[in-house]
Amino acid sequence: RLAATRAAPVIATGAVGAWAAVTTSNDDWDEYFPPAPASTDRERIVILGSGWAGLNAMKKCGGEGKDITIVSPRPHFLYTPLLAGSAVGTTTLRSVCEPIRAVIENSWTTDAKFIRADARAIDAAKKTVSLKTGDGDKNLELPYDKLVIAVGAQPNTFGIPGVQENALFLKEAEDSAKLHARLLSNLERASAALACGECNQVVDALLTVVVVGGGPTGVELCAELADFRKDDIARRYGDEIADRFRIVLAEAMPRVLGPFDPQLADLARTHLETRGVEVREKCAVTGVTADAVTYQPSLPRSATAEQRLQAAAEAKTEKVGALVWAAGIGARPVVKKLAQQLGQGENARGLKVDDRLQVLGADGVFAIGDCALSGNAPTAQVAAQQGKYVGRAIRDRSDKPFEYKHAGSLCCLGFGNAIAQLQPQHQAWRSLHSAANTKVVGEDQRAVTGAPAFALWRGMYFTQLLSPSTRWSVSADWIRTSLKGRDVNEPV
Ligand code: FAD
Ligand code: NAI
Repeated sequence: RLAATRAAPVIATGAVGAWAAVTTSNDDWDEYFPPAPASTDRERIVILGSGWAGLNAMKKCGGEGKDITIVSPRPHFLYTPLLAGSAVGTTTLRSVCEPIRAVIENSWTTDAKFIRADARAIDAAKKTVSLKTGDGDKNLELPYDKLVIAVGAQPNTFGIPGVQENALFLKEAEDSAKLHARLLSNLERASAALACGECNQVVDALLTVVVVGGGPTGVELCAELADFRKDDIARRYGDEIADRFRIVLAEAMPRVLGPFDPQLADLARTHLETRGVEVREKCAVTGVTADAVTYQPSLPRSATAEQRLQAAAEAKTEKVGALVWAAGIGARPVVKKLAQQLGQGENARGLKVDDRLQVLGADGVFAIGDCALSGNAPTAQVAAQQGKYVGRAIRDRSDKPFEYKHAGSLCCLGFGNAIAQLQPQHQAWRSLHSAANTKVVGEDQRAVTGAPAFALWRGMYFTQLLSPSTRWSVSADWIRTSLKGRDVNEPV
């Protein structure tokens, strides 16, 4: 039996290339066998992650003498700006997921190989990455000459009890599918409970959705939920269910939308409230169970022991049908592990990089997007620009520092309304500055609100969709939603 197990390792020459060694998983083996062959004469570029940063890097770094491999556990690019809409059926999930293999096939600039796998560890000295393949039963050690780490981030639960086990999230396509299914299932259960004359508390709990975190993710999700209640719940499940459907937004800080100008954040909060969202600021969630949430007033770091005791005494627990955790992001395990190996700290929030986005202390390794501590915000806009920059730097061997060009920030507040905070030199501002609902905010920023901002939000994100096929499918979703209502198909 031992001999059979030892004979199991094979070299995968096909999909991965002659230099990749595959073994069966066995934690006892500390060496991969047989060893990876010596490097080929092509430069081996390995990109970890198929998101905004990784995909843009892949598209730019192709060229003669380059052997590019993109590695990701998900075989698609996820178009995150439309993810909140997909959770209530404004768009379908298929429209916001672009298969990586199709992107590669349709790209003129790259002939990258794709491996569906999870990067578990990086050996910066040996210049290898250890992967676990998609079905989780094979280990793979991939050597590189240049490594681009673009693995993004994961929801941060801050170790709050019960969150990991009981909360829903809004980060990946699967999260959106789970949330959509939960909403539809709770609506049906509440309708049935009403029909059976069950007590009010059961119905009200099923019809309560709590969104934790008033950042852009939480605000956009609440806006989509408010649209869903107004347009779809009333007509499909009846007025009583729609009237009792509650959307609660809990934000620990004194105001929602921290990254936006206070006037715009205030406008967003008021708009959500007029649409029936209960916005609770200075309200920290401290515990979550399968069907309940505990809140208490949040306190500044400087709070005294007495104030903390008082806040704990004011804690309230409420029954909920769905709780969505949108309270921020943290580093993935592979990033934390590498940061630790490089002496960048025990519990790093990302990888420290220099002005060329090269990881400090790791030769030939770049970190981009949400997993990099580059001094820029964790947004798609930053990730895409960093991806393009690193791709070009690898292709052209250029040494120019990265320079981020901020176009502005947008947040959708539901159909027909949004806020936009733009740089005055931005083209969108120049064409919109004469429209209604525009003003100056902050030192040198311009704000657009209401319908013009919504048109900007839709237009901008529509044109940035990757392919004609996703544009077609998102257009079809939007037309269907406005004519026939949102997608309320429960998964079969
Ligand atoms: P991601 O896009 O998250 O991609 C990471 C990739 O790495 C994924 O393919 C993942 O599968 C892969 N990966 C994960 N672990 C591993 C591993 N161990 N090995 C290999 N691969 C791995 N930003 C904006 O600017 N505008 C918006 O409107 C906007 N809307 C958003 C809406 C939502 C709901 C969310 C959640 C975020 C939104 N953002 C927006 C933020 C934006 O999506 C992120 O900043 C952006 O996705 C970061 O890009 P990235 O490539 O670093 O990470
Ligand atoms: P975030 O970090 O911006 O916001 C999380 C919020 O949750 C914070 O305001 C925080 O105070 C709050 N919070 C944390 N713990 C809490 C608790 N226990 N109880 C109550 N509230 C708590 O995270 P978000 O919104 O997911 O955004 C992540 C990144 O993605 C940001 O950089 C954001 O700009 C970007 N993004 C941009 C969008 C856009 O441009 N339209 C849309 C969505 C995300």
